[in-house]
Amino acid sequence: MSQTTIARAMLSLMLAVAAGCAGGDGPGEAEGGLQAGPRAAPTGDGRQPPPDGRQPPPDQPPAPPADDPPANPPPTNQPPANQPPQAQGVQPRSPADNPTTAAKVALGRLLFWDPILSGPRDIACASCHHPDFAYGDGIALSIGTGGQGLGPDRVRGRGAPFVPRNAPTVLNTGFNGWTGGAMPDPEDAPMFWDNRAHSLEAQALGPIQSDVEMRGDTYPENEALDRVVARLAAIPEYEALFAAAFGVNPADAVTVEHLSNAIAAFERHLSRLTSPFDRFQAGDAGALTAQQQRGLRAFNAAGCADCHRGPMFSDYRLHRLNTPDNPATPELDQGDGQGRFRTPSLRNVALTGPYMHGGVFRTLPDVMRFYAARGRPAPGAPPPPPGAGPADPNLLDLRLNPADLPDIIAFLESLSDQALDLDIPDEVPSGLPVGGRL
Ligand code: HEC
Ligand code: HEC
Repeated sequence: MSQTTIARAMLSLMLAVAAGCAGGDGPGEAEGGLQAGPRAAPTGDGRQPPPDGRQPPPDQPPAPPADDPPANPPPTNQPPANQPPQAQGVQPRSPADNPTTAAKVALGRLLFWDPILSGPRDIACASCHHPDFAYGDGIALSIGTGGQGLGPDRVRGRGAPFVPRNAPTVLNTGFNGWTGGAMPDPEDAPMFWDNRAHSLEAQALGPIQSDVEMRGDTYPENEALDRVVARLAAIPEYEALFAAAFGVNPADAVTVEHLSNAIAAFERHLSRLTSPFDRFQAGDAGALTAQQQRGLRAFNAAGCADCHRGPMFSDYRLHRLNTPDNPATPELDQGDGQGRFRTPSLRNVALTGPYMHGGVFRTLPDVMRFYAARGRPAPGAPPPPPGAGPADPNLLDLRLNPADLPDIIAFLESLSDQALDLDIPDEVPSGLPVGGRL
């Protein structure tokens, strides 16, 4: 690893510390930070919804009162991106056996960018979770190993399939499962559109074994992790970095567990709440424009917050919306098997299109038209999946005034983090192209 790489990794970590997001990562401290956090009572986050699904809108700002927006205009000069607003004190909780440290984050970043984790050595995690696309990939369905290019320019290898789902951002995945109140056990944190995996540590090993994502047909699935670990252990720089990060002998340092722990630590480091909405919640009434404040109220009044609720704008539960399927997928995506998908967090949503599990909606206005029709196909929209069961009652009950749609979109734009760590390593220890064939 070059000195500049280390220096950049350390610098971004220091910025994170300045913003109150890294270090002191024990569960106790995380909860302490939460109590002081912006989403304290009376929002009622973390409670189970009453049977009728209605509960007081959770995202209402504490002040000012609803129909009395503050007179002061939005500031013309936004504060610098890394200035720590109060809300940034909240940090994700790490598992007891994997506290986040600077050394793990720096190692995890290199692994995230190193195509050595893929069978044909041509794709890295970052190929599909790239900072240029807010750690998503900017295309409807991901393109795995064998592909080339970045974002909308990415093309499949000959005969290669699409990954059958849209790539969610990894930003703020350290908060997956948090609906307010005490931070849940990170070992239970739900992952994927259908919540089928739990914890960042476990998730990180999935793409390495998946043929359509990173493995290809270079080795069988059950050998993938051992093969990748053997590759890493053969590189002295990785051996030294693993040994330093985990405080063990170089000969014992490169293991499957340490590999997943370092990547998870890096992803937790990418989890920090630094949006204008967070500044607004912390009391800076000028952080949202008047239109965004109207949008926030309309979002709650319409019933969006029945599902997109709490600090992450997600209940992390499964719902059936009967979203149109992407025709490019080989078979109908049934989500959890019953056509249900997890409510995605809306943080950074303005930056992470296309939308929904199959990426069928390109823009936020497209999504809003779907909701305005309460899940019935809007004119010109793709039809619902064949054989779809009844949609979630909270979808059918939406009270959405078409005139409010632009305000709601403006509000969603206020959920974009402003202190994003966009650092790309100059080189990775394997010497392969950083990020693969981009
Ligand atoms: C080929 C593109 C691709 C590559 C490479 C890839 N991912 Fe993903 N990632 C996806 C897609 C698509 C999903 C959603 C899959 C699903 O829901 O079934 C996803 C989901 C995730 C999630 C879950 C997010 C959430 O909120 O549930 C995390 C975390 C993640 N990826 C991290 C990684 C890491 C770490 C690597 C490298 C070891 C990686 N990804 C490699 C495409 C990719
Ligand atoms: C019944 C629960 C529910 C309600 C109510 C609801 N959503 Fe959703 N939302 C979901 C689920 C589930 C998905 C993912 C659906 C899929 O992938 O097929 C989703 C997806 C989205 C997305 C796309 C996010 C992404 O990353 O792809 C946006 C934007 C969104 N919702 C905004 C809203 C707005 C605005 C409202 C109110 C008008 C609303 N939602 C009401 C559950 C809900």
